[in-house]
Amino acid sequence: MDRLKLLIDTDPGVDDALAILMAHAYADVLALNIAAGNVGLGHTVQNALKLVETIGARTPVFAGCAAPLIAGADDAAFVHGADGFGDTGYTPSACRAADEHAVQALLRLSHAHAGRLVLVAIAPLTNLALALTLDPSLPQRVARLVIMGGAVTGRGNTHRVPAEFNIGFDPEAAHVVFSTWPHFTLVDWEATMRHGIAFETMERWLTVDDPRARFYAAISRKTREWTRMRGRPRLMVADALAMAVALHPDIVVDAQDHHVAIELSGALTRGATVVDWEDRFGKPANARIVLTVDHARFETLVAAALGTAVG
Ligand code: RIB
Ligand code: CA
Repeated sequence: MDRLKLLIDTDPGVDDALAILMAHAYADVLALNIAAGNVGLGHTVQNALKLVETIGARTPVFAGCAAPLIAGADDAAFVHGADGFGDTGYTPSACRAADEHAVQALLRLSHAHAGRLVLVAIAPLTNLALALTLDPSLPQRVARLVIMGGAVTGRGNTHRVPAEFNIGFDPEAAHVVFSTWPHFTLVDWEATMRHGIAFETMERWLTVDDPRARFYAAISRKTREWTRMRGRPRLMVADALAMAVALHPDIVVDAQDHHVAIELSGALTRGATVVDWEDRFGKPANARIVLTVDHARFETLVAAALGTAVG
């Protein structure tokens, strides 16, 4: 059977890197479209190029927008390191990003692979919002959109308590996507917390004699230390969870379809994902909210992408 054709919009980022490793292990990755988010665009582009070089892939990297649509936002360097990849001081890749802007590349590839492209958005939605503004017909050519973002009952991971990072970093972009894309799959922060990976499990996978395990061990060290220091019981790998759902939709055990909107102005709630759980808005459901996946299958997918022999 043909492998899925993925386009990944990403802000690498340590958990982005794990998702990208999974994508390359199981699918055809047409492009990495790079956003600013976890850290600035200069770093996220270099990180994507380094990851592609490390795994010997030929995946094109396209730089996207360097800032949110409207207002600036804090990055997540405190989680991922100042460079977004654990501040390992790696030798920059000899490769360069393509000259084409990520938004143009997305629109071009959506025509070239019309009806088959699976779009995985694991970053702030700035690039996707601009693509939709340039060409509102984009959703007609995309087979599936999977978004990592939001906190569906308000337990977010930013200083605006109900907001999750990807949505909170560019709420206007998220509003454009959530209010125009007919139907997408949403993997939120709360599902991520339900599907954390035990430290010991991850550390076992990272001892395997595989370049991917070695690379991920290095770039994730700071994030793993920070997570333990923060008192979290497990490692949160949000983007890897979203990628697992994109690669294997049947991994989802429990999901609900509801209308989800983005709060843009609340002093305490800007960037919140507001879910119409009782369907009171009278609007069609725009999101399939993933609540639970088969956790054993999820861990197997992650382990194999890091070089652990499974099965
Ligand atoms: O809230 C988690 C999301 O924000 C992930 O995509 C992570 O990489 C950060 O971008
Ligand atoms: Ca990300």
